[in-house]
Amino acid sequence: MKRIITFFLATTLAVLTSKADEGMWLPSLISQRIADMQEKGFRLSAEDIYSINEASLKDAVVLFGRGCTGELISPEGLLLTNHHCGYSQIQKHSSVEHDYLKDGFWAMSRSEELPNEGLSVSFLDRMEDVTEIILKGCTDEMTEEERRETVRKACEELIEKVTDDKKGLRATVEALYYGNQYFLFVYREFKDIRLVGAPPSSIGKFGGDTDNWMWPRHTGDFSIFRIYADKENNPAEYSENNVPYIPKKFFKISLDGVNEGDFTFIYGFPGRTQEYIHSEGVRYIEEVSDPHKIHLRTIRLDIQKKYMSQSQAVRIMYSSKNANVANAWKKWQGEVKGLKKMNTVEVKRQLEKDFDAWAADKEYKGLVSKIDGIYKELEPYAFATDYFNETIRAVELSTFAMSVARLYQKGFDEGELSKMAQTFYKDYHLPIDKESFIALMKEYGRNMPERFQPDYYKKMMADHGSEEAWAEALFVNSLFADKEKVKALTAEDKETVINDPATEFYNEFVKIHAAEVLPQSRRLNNELQLAYRDYMRGLMEFQKDRAFYPDANLTLRVAYGQVKGYSPSDGIYFTPYSTLRGIIEKDNPDIFDYNIPQTLRDIWKNKDYGKWAGKDGEIPVCFIATNHTSGGNSGSPVINADGNLIGINFDRVWEGTMSDIVFDPEVCRNIALDIRYVLFTIDRIGNAGHLIDEMVFAE
Ligand code: ARG
Ligand code: GLU
Repeated sequence: MKRIITFFLATTLAVLTSKADEGMWLPSLISQRIADMQEKGFRLSAEDIYSINEASLKDAVVLFGRGCTGELISPEGLLLTNHHCGYSQIQKHSSVEHDYLKDGFWAMSRSEELPNEGLSVSFLDRMEDVTEIILKGCTDEMTEEERRETVRKACEELIEKVTDDKKGLRATVEALYYGNQYFLFVYREFKDIRLVGAPPSSIGKFGGDTDNWMWPRHTGDFSIFRIYADKENNPAEYSENNVPYIPKKFFKISLDGVNEGDFTFIYGFPGRTQEYIHSEGVRYIEEVSDPHKIHLRTIRLDIQKKYMSQSQAVRIMYSSKNANVANAWKKWQGEVKGLKKMNTVEVKRQLEKDFDAWAADKEYKGLVSKIDGIYKELEPYAFATDYFNETIRAVELSTFAMSVARLYQKGFDEGELSKMAQTFYKDYHLPIDKESFIALMKEYGRNMPERFQPDYYKKMMADHGSEEAWAEALFVNSLFADKEKVKALTAEDKETVINDPATEFYNEFVKIHAAEVLPQSRRLNNELQLAYRDYMRGLMEFQKDRAFYPDANLTLRVAYGQVKGYSPSDGIYFTPYSTLRGIIEKDNPDIFDYNIPQTLRDIWKNKDYGKWAGKDGEIPVCFIATNHTSGGNSGSPVINADGNLIGINFDRVWEGTMSDIVFDPEVCRNIALDIRYVLFTIDRIGNAGHLIDEMVFAE
């Protein structure tokens, strides 16, 4: 227990100063930051942000799907998130006849709102520090395994106590600061979520992957959903009889717009950051992992692009997959540049040296070189895992074959198989997969250390003589290459499925990965976790005046900052807003991603903006601010000093994407969509003013 107590002391002492605007704060502890927020312009109280007893802003924020944020904007359950967060739902409802991606979708009445199987949203009901409860049974003498088991049991018990399926209550316990602290999060999860509106991609994805992660930006990245509940306003599975959910709290909308220097804050679910990671961890990311992953994805993206530009059907099929592959690919490139520019490895090495000297007479003695050593040992296994994920697991045919094989293992179910097949083949283009297979296997042969290559791989290469010939055999002989054969499968075909070459491919690579890589990487990662737990605690003692915040882990956080431009490089200064003028400047009917709807051109020409124009007479589109955000913050409400909604977060600037590892106040900016552009689009492009009538505007 001694260690735990020291830890608490460290956290409470460290609340005072923070580097400008860096930080993702826990809402239940926001009282520790509120003075700083108010000093910077915030006009509400800590209780307005998070309260256990009263409705507070947290009740208007949801975790949307598996990794985005959304916010409530009407008393009838209307919800805003990003276009790219609703993308797979919009895509699932699309076909060549009803291309909602291309043309947009607007439900003109409640009965036209489209249900989405598998989509849910979760409200945070409450959160609580449960460190003492979770660590109660732990002693300093315990082995790490014993400790882990004790913690696991304590978490399980706690979760079971608060879970209540009838009320839609689910819970998680999350380790913060590498397990120095534990928090319980209780959520209310709603499962009947319907698509209400989406702009055409020429607005919602304007600029596509060319503009992605970039400023100046002009993407109208939003989509609209509605939460449905049962007659008692409780979560329920989809039913025709469900009614719009009446939220405890929703955001009022401000049409005041933003000025440089204005206070803003963001409430949302950032996914993963590693702000306290060791220099060796950074070096691996910067010099090994990111560059290899970037290269492998460049290959896949080029192949996808080639086929997508030849056919509209293929473009629809691969639009969502392609965006996913491209997104991280581009982020990693910015991250590498940013880490280099910040000299992160060197800066961290210096910090570790100072820490080490300070620790010489403390329990943290030797920790730095211990972490160094673990990283060195871990590197080949980490590399093998990264490579496995970006090559073997990228072969669509074989991952699908594997999921069918798993279905047989679970117990064959015809309905399930037919659903799986439908989902898979709807968006599958074999020539892309085959060509990617050939290219990826060539890279695999060159770069995967031989001791991690299965005999199967060597045999295939010897039997076929080339990746091309191997692909010929695999993509012809596998039954999964033919969707009719898959549809005809029965309970009797278990052996056929398991022995299929596509299943075999996956199995053979997984087998060696499971035998030669996973056990070692698991062991070393556990050692690392343990060392980090001590290091984190030590760091908090060492840097007494630093304001620490726990790394992001897809739990609700508050980030605050101000609207602010930046200088990405010598001689350039970016102002913090963009307008419709920029869209018109980029407009190009010959380039898919820049071909805007004719309506927008007409509106621009006639300048009939109605009430949506800003003070300068232009239609505002996006703005940037210094809020510290990460992946998962997509769709997060951007809120002004009075707690009203002024925008939707959807990205970061490219020069600042290293902020998951190191935050540079000079260039790290989040990118938000101005709420007035959202309303303008709903009204003037979607002609869906009835949705605006539901909203409430701040005076
Ligand atoms: N970069 C943003 C994020 O990380 C938007 C991604 C979606 N857009 C795209 N063009 N792929 O999620
Ligand atoms: N677009 C990201 C998301 O999907 C947010 C951008 C970021 O990583 O900051 O969450």
